[in-house]
Amino acid sequence: MTALAGRHVVLGVSGGIASYKSCTLARRLTETGARVDVVMTRAATEFVGTVTFEALTGRPVISSLWEPGRALSHIHLAREADLVIVAPATAQVLARAAQGLADDLLTAILLARTGPVIVAPAMNDRMFAHPATRRNLESLVDRGWLAVGPEKGPLAEGAAEGPGRMSEPETLFAHVVRALSGESPWRNRKVVVTAGPTREALDPVRVFTNPSSGRMGFALASAVWLRGADVTLVTGPTSLEPPVGPKVVRVVTTAELSRAVARHLRRADVLFMAAAPADFRPRRQAGTKIKRGASEKLVVELTPTTDVLSATRKARRRGAVIVGFALEAGGGVRSARAKLAEKALDFIILNDAREPGAGFEVETNKVTIIGKTGRAKPVQLLPKSEVAAAILDAVESAL
Ligand code: CTP
Repeated sequence: MTALAGRHVVLGVSGGIASYKSCTLARRLTETGARVDVVMTRAATEFVGTVTFEALTGRPVISSLWEPGRALSHIHLAREADLVIVAPATAQVLARAAQGLADDLLTAILLARTGPVIVAPAMNDRMFAHPATRRNLESLVDRGWLAVGPEKGPLAEGAAEGPGRMSEPETLFAHVVRALSGESPWRNRKVVVTAGPTREALDPVRVFTNPSSGRMGFALASAVWLRGADVTLVTGPTSLEPPVGPKVVRVVTTAELSRAVARHLRRADVLFMAAAPADFRPRRQAGTKIKRGASEKLVVELTPTTDVLSATRKARRRGAVIVGFALEAGGGVRSARAKLAEKALDFIILNDAREPGAGFEVETNKVTIIGKTGRAKPVQLLPKSEVAAAILDAVESAL
């Protein structure tokens, strides 16, 4: 089943140049199973043709209160839609909505709407910075609407000093999925996810680390945010794009990771410890680059780093659910269970580094989910995003 199967979304498009990006959003929503009704203002039709949206959604575009045979469509759409998203929302539409005007189909829907509404403001940066616009948006947010963006970045008219650019379609899409995740047990839970490797310096240009890509942790952070959680992603150095939604905290060393986890764990309901911290660090760190010809043989003395999970035991809230990962190369379930007990975990997710398609640097994973009680549950080889979903389904029972 696709993510938005059977969901009904009204996509309001007002007259801004960013409306070309709403075509991508309309397509993304439609291909993930949503029934999308596009409602355009008159100004919007100056930018994009109705035919474009009709072809993308497979449904007629509605742009007037006065279309024959569609009397009261504003009331039906306002009542029946699971979600209304206005993208782009121009300064003009925000002003009319804030005032409660209903002088076209889109504003009439917004006035009649009691369910969730997302707005994606898009305009010139000075127009967005104007106190009138700020106040209008604030009053809509106070009434329970969710504003996504605008972001800093180039505008159609050139470089901008402040935010004004509409959020990208993928960002808006993620917010729609999250808004439609309904009564998920994750909603408003505080979740901390760690990801990626850490690095321990030998000298200013050399480090000890491991090949963790951070993908499993990023996939988990994204998946749990989409289910409604309030997520902090603490990550070591990775080349991955930050996911839409989670607050990202960057660390380098295991000690920094440990401090960041301790700080965020105090208020967390759940910790997913998917990071692969460097387990050893050089006992001494050279202040200048060690020269290759300095000696025949370089001996580096290593000392263990902090075990983050064990060190942060005291920082755990009572009742917090702690999920660790175990990377094993042989030993499997038995040694994972030993780690679960030793680190006082509620779940441990076992990865066998020797399994094809599992472990570091790959897009897929093959894991076994082991709870404090109960049997080990093997999950088939899947993309990391689907493994993340299986882990969330299993951990959900403990919330
Ligand atoms: N972990 C941690 N601090 C470390 C190393 C690991 O908190 N310094 C966490 C990992 O994030 C993971 C769990 O402990 O959730 C198990 O990690 P793993 O590398 O499998 O085990 P180690 O504790 O490092 O034990 P060993 O290397 O002996 O297998």
